[in-house]
Amino acid sequence: MKYKIQNLEQVDNSWYFDGASIKFLASEFQTPLYVYSLSTIQNKIADLKKTFAEITPKHQLYYAVKANSNLTLLKYIAESGFGFDIVSAGELMRVKQATGRTDNIVFAGVGKTEYEIKLAAEAEIHAFNVESIAELEFIGKICSEVRKSANITFRINPNVDAHTHKYITTGTEKNKFGIMLEKVDEALDTLTKYDYLNFIGYQMHLGSQIKLGMPYRLGFDVLKTLIAKASERGLEVSEIDLGGGFGVGYEENEDFNLQDFIKQLKPQIPENITIAAEPGRYIVAESGILLTKVLYRKSRFAIVDGAMTDCIRPTLYDAYHPIANLSKGIFPDTDEFAKIENGEIDKASAVDVVGPVCESGDFLGLSRNLQAEQGDILGLLYAGAYGYAMSSNYNSRPKPAEVLVSKGKALQISKRESHEDLYRNEIFPE
Ligand code: LLP
Repeated sequence: MKYKIQNLEQVDNSWYFDGASIKFLASEFQTPLYVYSLSTIQNKIADLKKTFAEITPKHQLYYAVKANSNLTLLKYIAESGFGFDIVSAGELMRVKQATGRTDNIVFAGVGKTEYEIKLAAEAEIHAFNVESIAELEFIGKICSEVRKSANITFRINPNVDAHTHKYITTGTEKNKFGIMLEKVDEALDTLTKYDYLNFIGYQMHLGSQIKLGMPYRLGFDVLKTLIAKASERGLEVSEIDLGGGFGVGYEENEDFNLQDFIKQLKPQIPENITIAAEPGRYIVAESGILLTKVLYRKSRFAIVDGAMTDCIRPTLYDAYHPIANLSKGIFPDTDEFAKIENGEIDKASAVDVVGPVCESGDFLGLSRNLQAEQGDILGLLYAGAYGYAMSSNYNSRPKPAEVLVSKGKALQISKRESHEDLYRNEIFPE
């Protein structure tokens, strides 16, 4: 079967994304270009809201800003009732800038600085997800100094293996994340020393690209056993946050199994506890396509104007993104990834899609059957999450522009960087 991407459709031999012509987008805004479909984002949000409503009426979703932090996208996501999961002061300021609110933010991360803690305490965010006893003490001290109360959840490392990529698995004892189970008693005791800390519950994050409900169920079972430890000390658990990690169909065009998630979680939910989650990728991945033009053909290479600087996932994680030739309407089969892995791709017609950066690792996809010719527009699919967000200026390449498409309209939501942007912060010493 061919990959199908929501809202990417063919009309009279041309391709349209959320009603906007790909050919028009590439010529109007130039390539490389990130294009996001608002309808897809809204559909994904609706899927998750429905799923959580079915599990429990008491739920709250926080969008993981790191997946794609464009201000316009944050604004639309906020309108759907989501809060935000942040990991830095920069992300806090983005949410504030985009939505005018900070009271619906949870702040995660193993290395929050004094500046960041102060800023978040003063912004009266919803909660700090605390990752260690040392961090708890530091937050307690700073909140006393600035006389601001703060809600605290403990990020617990439940030691559940989500069986995902080694760089994006986070919930086992081998990872740097979260409070280990044997430290929870000590962490709860530490809380009592700080007047300005208000414990509200537990959080976990098992990793990314999880496809089934079981890891969440196993992690949740562990967190539930910790409710009693809190109540022994007179502390009430009002929120349990399952983290993010809901996977998308890069490799087989199939997303996280929401029905399985409901089946695993629904019977487990205690009354009076808000169930939260922090999805990032699920909301935005499929909504985004990185458009890139074939500059040259040279033996097995299609040299394109997009590069590892625009989307580093293939280079960094060996991640597979399906690639379509949108000039010719050629989409990969959903078994392409498995064929590449097993060396079954027809080498004679396959191309490596590579960028202009001076690194052998600069590729967007290897061994693809695309019939790519000079001038063709290729689309790197599922590029909306951790694409632009992880882009860089290596080789002094300006970052691409971003465009939001919605029912035939195309709105630019970030400018292509200029050359001046590249050295804006550099100074010749006197
Ligand atoms: N919550 C926490 C505490 C996280 O660390 C993350 C992701 C999320 C939520 C959102 O996870 P998601 O739903 O997006 O899977 N750059 C990598 C992904 C790194 C994810 C880091 N943490 C990639 O491109 O695959």
